[in-house]
Amino acid sequence: MAGSGKTDILLLGSGGREHALLAKLAESPQAGRLWVAPGNGGMWQLAQRADIDPESGGAVSAFAREHGIGLVVIGPEAPLVAGVADAVRAAGIPVFGPSGEAARIEGSKGFAKGVMARAGVPTASYRSFTDEGACVAYVRELAGPCVVKADGLAAGKGVVVAQTTEEALAGVHACFSGAFGEAGSTVIVEELLEGPECSLLALTDGTALVPLATSQDHKRALDGDRGPNTGGMGVYSPVPILRDGELERMVEIEQRVVDQLREDGINYSGCLYGGFILTKDGPKVLEFNARFGDPETQVVLPRMRGDLVECLLACDGATLDPAMVSWADDWAVSVVLTSAGYPGHYERGKVICGIDDANAMEGVIVYHAGTTLDDGGRVLTAGGRVLDVTAVAATFEDARNRAYEACDRISFEGKTYRHDIGIKAIRGRDRL
Ligand code: AMP
Ligand code: GLY
Repeated sequence: MAGSGKTDILLLGSGGREHALLAKLAESPQAGRLWVAPGNGGMWQLAQRADIDPESGGAVSAFAREHGIGLVVIGPEAPLVAGVADAVRAAGIPVFGPSGEAARIEGSKGFAKGVMARAGVPTASYRSFTDEGACVAYVRELAGPCVVKADGLAAGKGVVVAQTTEEALAGVHACFSGAFGEAGSTVIVEELLEGPECSLLALTDGTALVPLATSQDHKRALDGDRGPNTGGMGVYSPVPILRDGELERMVEIEQRVVDQLREDGINYSGCLYGGFILTKDGPKVLEFNARFGDPETQVVLPRMRGDLVECLLACDGATLDPAMVSWADDWAVSVVLTSAGYPGHYERGKVICGIDDANAMEGVIVYHAGTTLDDGGRVLTAGGRVLDVTAVAATFEDARNRAYEACDRISFEGKTYRHDIGIKAIRGRDRL
């Protein structure tokens, strides 16, 4: 808002991650008018809708210029990879999110592995194939566990974690026979890393890196980590099973990657998301993402103390300071409510009841993901992942119990969720 000392903000995206970002931005005394494109049923209760294509750099910068926006925040990967941050920066408007070139750390496996090799960062060894015969020969030569992946974006579905050569060969055949479409025309065979997974989100301005809290996602659709991979069914923060030195090592790895990119002439500013496996030889990188995690953000931001508007502006302005962020000594657990059938076919348009009842519970925040509003203002389902029911409490057990009690207060036809989010954290590392 010109002259008021406040910053008007445009946030791109429509998931639970973006609702959590919006809620935290809205808490800032610096936040002026808030806009979202496209947003969801929960976000439209906090911000105005900008009727623009979030993946068009031209449309986003024109809107930002016309409306006096002082900060554009990019949630998902698609606008980043499309270079929306570059267009907004070129228009002289502050933007949170890496350039299209820097976002290749997520968009291109070959690029990411090259950066990691130059930076001396531990990750799974891999080879890439476009010829099925050569790929089959390599898998037979390995004669043991490996991971077969369709290259490119197959929404997490093109991954086979194979314990035997036969399973691996079946995965190779599925990729080359077109089961994952274009994404399967290049196939990657990767070393199988063993150990629990841990995500670490970090803010960076291209030089300084400020780690946020650790978290752990639950990717499989069904209890007991069975069923197909999804976008994430639940998450908690922090990860209680870390051993001495593991957090410091993950932070060092992320710092090295940012430093390597800078040496390569690429300024990476925004959120760097490291997906790690805690192996017996220490943390190794599974993947990097160029954005906040979804659903990780929904448990990390509610625990963060600090002014998010100030932090995100500092990432773009190269003034990030570790003193801007601190952490409450608490726990957060988030359970994702999905539409029956997800990640396969599901129905939309079901009326959701009980969100206010759930939000009224102490420490509970319900973030919307796939929701919309009808003309009467009722909240309807509009996606596979519908709501992220998050609870923050002084102990892990209280956070988990409250999140599940809040889930019980919400109803819609086809409501489906995992019942074992956080169980692994309670059992401990030796019983994973
Ligand atoms: P991705 O789509 O590459 O994120 O992989 C999806 C899931 O497959 C990951 O979250 C892991 O659980 C598993 N995965 C992928 N690559 C590996 C690997 N090299 N070793 C062990 N598990 C893996
Ligand atoms: N939680 C997985 C992701 O954001 O990619």
